[in-house]
Amino acid sequence: MRTILVTGGAGYIGSHTVVELQNQNYSVVIADNLSNSNEKVIEAICQITGKKPDFIKADLSDQSECKKVFDTFPQIEAVINFAAYKAVGESCEKPLDYYKNNLGILLNVLQQMKERGIKYFVQSSSCTVYGEPEVLPVRESSPIQQATSPYGNTKQMAEDILRFTAMAKQVKAIALRYFNPVGAHESALIGELPNGVPNNLMPFITQTAAGIRKQLTVFGNDYPTPDGTCIRDFIHVVDLAKAHVVAINRFFENKNKADFEYFNIGTGRGYSVLELINSFEKTIGVKLNYTIGSRRQGDITQIWADTTVSEQELGWKAEMDIDQMTLSAWKWQQHLDKTPF
Ligand code: UD1
Repeated sequence: MRTILVTGGAGYIGSHTVVELQNQNYSVVIADNLSNSNEKVIEAICQITGKKPDFIKADLSDQSECKKVFDTFPQIEAVINFAAYKAVGESCEKPLDYYKNNLGILLNVLQQMKERGIKYFVQSSSCTVYGEPEVLPVRESSPIQQATSPYGNTKQMAEDILRFTAMAKQVKAIALRYFNPVGAHESALIGELPNGVPNNLMPFITQTAAGIRKQLTVFGNDYPTPDGTCIRDFIHVVDLAKAHVVAINRFFENKNKADFEYFNIGTGRGYSVLELINSFEKTIGVKLNYTIGSRRQGDITQIWADTTVSEQELGWKAEMDIDQMTLSAWKWQQHLDKTPF
């Protein structure tokens, strides 16, 4: 059985990916400092799959802690890197923390891999690398535009670091450019753990429906879109998780065409903020208390993915629709209300 190190594996996307890796008979080591997650997630994963992943609490931005992870698990053959800070607004207030943490983790992990001859690396990237696209849908060949936040810039810089490390033949890397991950595992045992007031739309919707938040504010309805609200490519987190397994298989099956590859991981379909709200109201059968507010600084108007390359080259396609996204997000919210972490 091949062993994959999943950094940040107790987090939202990480935990769903661990489940899919175990389902495909990979053995998983999770390294996580639990700064934005909870150890109970490990038990929840075990409940879903019947397999316990190895877990090591470690701050990978610390060189010696990172080394310890690789020393403890010499069987690691590939790494999926989720460990990173991810709040866009916070990154503008604490840019140095974001560069130090997100890039420090990446560099430390790559250094350990180099020293041990571990070749395969999957990076959690983002559609934020495209900025406000001029042409839609965005393709992998669309231009990278100047980042609007340090968070987004760490995603761009991580891709550059991987490109050059791969060019030096020290690693084979795949960057997965996620669009907007939402929803939760169908078991409702894992999902996105709220940390204070959510920044992202879906957790704000479910918390408003659950009565935790009084009102949802739609940030602007004067955008040049059909209903005036922003458009995003929402993707079910389980579909997203499966893309990582496909990327890992690609290495072991020697299917990669270049030492550094990058793929759009979206559905190819854009929904506006109001359309997502309507889908939620219809699927759950509740009326959401929402109001229209002013635009949020830094938001782009619209983005959705061209998925041709990920379908044809990677051999991956999102399967779940918007109703499955909202329904699973709601089931997870109800689970959290009953059994808070
Ligand atoms: C942002 C980041 C993305 C990152 C993601 C996950 C940018 C441009 N995008 O995505 O890189 O991966 O967060 O953290 O940096 N909205 C409301 N009311 C709310 C919350 C959101 O109307 O209470 C709207 C927003 O204005 C936006 C849409 O919902 O139009 C989606 O917002 P959000 O879920 O925060 O994700 P992004 O900003 O698209």
